[in-house]
Amino acid sequence: MTIKQIMVVGAGQMGAGIAQVCAYSGYEVILHDTKEKVVEDGIQTIRKRLKRDVEKDRLSDSDVDRILRRVYASSTISNAEHADLIIEAAVENLDVKKTIFSQLDSFAPEHAVLATNTSSLPITEIAAETSRAENVIGMHFMNPVPVMTLIEIIRGLQTDDSTFKTVKNVSESLGKTPVEVNDFPGFVSNRVLMPMINEAIFTVYEGVATPKDIDEVMKLGMNHPMGPLTLADFIGLDTCLYIMEVLHDGFGDDKYRPCPLLRQYVQAGWLGKKTGRGFYTYN
Ligand code: CAA
Repeated sequence: MTIKQIMVVGAGQMGAGIAQVCAYSGYEVILHDTKEKVVEDGIQTIRKRLKRDVEKDRLSDSDVDRILRRVYASSTISNAEHADLIIEAAVENLDVKKTIFSQLDSFAPEHAVLATNTSSLPITEIAAETSRAENVIGMHFMNPVPVMTLIEIIRGLQTDDSTFKTVKNVSESLGKTPVEVNDFPGFVSNRVLMPMINEAIFTVYEGVATPKDIDEVMKLGMNHPMGPLTLADFIGLDTCLYIMEVLHDGFGDDKYRPCPLLRQYVQAGWLGKKTGRGFYTYN
């Protein structure tokens, strides 16, 4: 199937990044969020990122104008009516995603592929909210989207081969490397990453070392680009907790028990970089 127009639902950190790479690769993009201000901020983030590429001589000012002209703002979900591919990148919450997919089922054209950027939730269950589970698939981008080259593609139980092929082709056209994984809690990326982050939080909780020293061990000792606690702040501690809960519920194994300190930070509203405080403080 030829994809011309892509709608991105959710204009936060991930949604803006996805919209940026889609517009950069030549697609018409509708960036949608329920709040107009969130969409404006998302477009502003894209503009800032592209301007940085101009400073680095990777793009010209006219390239930036051309890319931004391909991005349309939306705060009405019925704007899905001409989209060939819809990528949902809303908050990591099953009920929210189910509501969005049921709305998309009403407004998206019959041929449209409905993808979710969920990082851990069951694709099969999200697909069941629609009358076209064969068109529903997981398309999991990594943060920061413009930099990270992986896309995990997750088929639900009923996903068609043609849906998979379309999403694989689009992923490659964005300059990304798609990897197919099965529909299990946390897929591969977060099943491996989040227990490491959770364990790093346990080492803070148990007083083994300071956050800075734990991060230093992993950066210098394992060559990770950022330490697990910096990464947790960057992802958002609410998202980390939610994913740990999905793993804990999904596998029922104590090894996925969220660290009480993680829970407490989230209760305090210390969600990481986005709120100015997590394991570190930010201005
Ligand atoms: N958006 C776009 N570009 C960004 C960016 C952002 N938010 N942050 C950094 N960059 C770019 C910078 O512009 C820079 O590019 P140029 O040098 O070409 O201009 C490049 O990335 C390197 O940036 P810095 O030199 O400032 O910093 P760095 O070398 O530490 O790299 C990083 C930053 C790429 C984020 C790196 O630290 C890294 O790879 N960290 C790990 C990221 C990671 O693990 N992501 C996965 C998170 S888990 C996830 O997303 C899944 C989930 O479901 C939770």
